Amino acid sequence: MTFDRSVKIAPSILSADFANFGAEIEAVEAQGADWIHVDVMDGHFVPNITFGPATCAAIRPHIKTVMDVHLMVAPVDPYIQAFADAGADIITAHVEAGPHIHRTLQAIRASGAKAGLALNPGTPAEAAAPLLDMVDLICVMTVNPGFGGQKFIHSCVQKVTELREMIGDREVHIEIDGGVDPSTAPLVVAAGADVLVAGSAVFKGGSVQNPAPYGDNIRAIRTAAG
Ligand code: DX5
Ligand code: ZN
Repeated sequence: MTFDRSVKIAPSILSADFANFGAEIEAVEAQGADWIHVDVMDGHFVPNITFGPATCAAIRPHIKTVMDVHLMVAPVDPYIQAFADAGADIITAHVEAGPHIHRTLQAIRASGAKAGLALNPGTPAEAAAPLLDMVDLICVMTVNPGFGGQKFIHSCVQKVTELREMIGDREVHIEIDGGVDPSTAPLVVAAGADVLVAGSAVFKGGSVQNPAPYGDNIRAIRTAAG
């Protein structure tokens, strides 16, 4: 992965057909997805359960772009190597998931993956300040994590502006996760974000049999983002 700040659209497979991940991933990549965002939930850190490392390993051969794994689990550390072994290019952990985020980020990089740090809507940008030299990505949650299709929380946009300033020249992506659509994408890109996760706004109206709407939806977000 080479670093750049161009806008990247990362469809979340949380909104895909769970019985057909391989074909769904191939469809959204053929329709212009830049990364594939993989939401892992444990029913403990967040009030929903998705899947774990075995599913990630099974879908990995279907991903030609970047496998961006968002861990909404606590604890994180016992599972890092399993997700790295499953082929994750980026592993993102939440600052709220435990008392030792510094250790967690060290462990992610030691596993060979790029390290991401996610901040819930209630967590200020300053929480990332001591960690800026240990991360490759900061994920700003613009909904409370757990479910797709929630409403974008506008007060999080200011946090993106603050993080962009804090990051300076460092090669750190700012990713936005939650409620991204053509109306909200321009706000966060103007504030400094470059990776836009989108679940419902990408997968709505399409299917593996009828993938053209995926392309229309991705282009609509990209065009609106400017
Ligand atoms: C929420 C997940 C998101 C989610 C986004 O906990 O981390 O990735 O799938 O879904 P939308 O784009 O529908 O808000
Ligand atoms: Zn996510």
